[in-house]
Amino acid sequence: MKLQPPKGTRDFYPDEMAKRRYLHDAWRRVSQRHGFDEVDGPIFESLDLYKVKSGDGIVSELFHFKDRGDRELAIRPEFTPTLARMVAAKANGLPKPIKWFCTPNLCRAEKPQRGRLREFDQWNIDMLGLDSLQADAEVIAVACDLLKELGVKPDQVKCKISHREVARAILSSLGVPDDKMNDAFTLLDGKAKMPATMFIDKASEIGMDQEAIRRLNALSSQAYAIDAVDQMLTDAGLDGTLDNAWNSLVELDGLLTGLGLFDWCEFDLSIVRGLAYYTGTVFELHVATGKERALGGGGRYDGLIELFGGPAMSGVGFGMGDVVLSNLLEDLGLPLTDDSLRPDAFVIALNDTSAEKVPSLLSSLREQGFHVRSSYKTTRNIGKLLKEANACRARFAIILEFDDGLVGPGSLVSLKDLATGDQQPITIDQLADHLRK
Ligand code: HAM
Repeated sequence: MKLQPPKGTRDFYPDEMAKRRYLHDAWRRVSQRHGFDEVDGPIFESLDLYKVKSGDGIVSELFHFKDRGDRELAIRPEFTPTLARMVAAKANGLPKPIKWFCTPNLCRAEKPQRGRLREFDQWNIDMLGLDSLQADAEVIAVACDLLKELGVKPDQVKCKISHREVARAILSSLGVPDDKMNDAFTLLDGKAKMPATMFIDKASEIGMDQEAIRRLNALSSQAYAIDAVDQMLTDAGLDGTLDNAWNSLVELDGLLTGLGLFDWCEFDLSIVRGLAYYTGTVFELHVATGKERALGGGGRYDGLIELFGGPAMSGVGFGMGDVVLSNLLEDLGLPLTDDSLRPDAFVIALNDTSAEKVPSLLSSLREQGFHVRSSYKTTRNIGKLLKEANACRARFAIILEFDDGLVGPGSLVSLKDLATGDQQPITIDQLADHLRK
């Protein structure tokens, strides 16, 4: 019987797994150097957890099932509700601000396509309990730092920022009634993915006239430098007074510029985010060509912890998926693996007497911390064995050709540098020093 993997899932053979490890290592390294601690939760939760506040979009994509006790469960489509549940349960005992990261695998029953699968990994960065915009700026800085770490430049990816309340004020001035505001957010969030005529039809359905639709279309089709809040306000046709939400964007400009992120960030009023729990700043990372799905997205979700039974506590964070990120690195010709998995040396035996000595040499080198492998073949055809050494990207080949079984620390082996081709005889007890160099 031949079975295919389920639609939208991936098998990670060693090459793919090495790429996955590379991204996870970068996520972990960057999180830790910004002071975030790693957490995780269960891969399935009560279905209700996602019905509280994630929004219809995500609920319609849930893989859900009943256990034998008839309890309704769902595989996690995102981590934020789990995080909110975990924080709410221990809020008083946790040192503030809470700075957590995690890299869960998530499942969404989406139609598989470029950038979207049914199972994917998502890096989450979240900061809770710090009310000021410093937290918003800090999580955006972590996202940009990850991109820098992987060799991406600010002209290749932009962090597009907006504010839910700014969007609300604009939509309200364009005639959207309060009870249709969530529909308007959903419409704006999906605008890039729908034909213009559909956008117009849906906008009229939520109460906007032709002129309002034209203005919304113009406003949401351009980005602004983060020091151009005044210009945005004028273009939005709002009358010059900045309320709290607009002031947040001005303050955020100062903080992000102070962190050296002016070139990475822009304000973009089309960003509202599809998830229902965001309350303030919202942002998405987009590839500059505009052709890909968002690389990541997040925002402020004040009130979510209270909703899960915890104390009032502010929160801000984002998620970044591995699928769009790998597509981006591939398209930019940037590395998707590093040297951390390369063997230090590959041991080759040219005759049976030498082959007998391979296991003890491997175990002695491994005890000293080296990553060493060996061929399971013994042959005088050294070319064939070196091919194996090169295939696993070993740095050195250690070539054994002992004439008798009397082998000790002073016995000679050949050490071949596989990058330069240089080969030299050295004694076994000198091997570690040479490999360390
Ligand atoms: P999200 O926008 O639903 O946010 O997902 C964030 C990122 O996860 C997306 O930009 C994308 O890179 C990746 N992603 C989402 N769905 C898929 C999929 N089907 N296949 C591949 N990648 C996907 C959230 O999930 C929020 N909970 C993030 C957050 C954390 N907000 C605050 N903290």
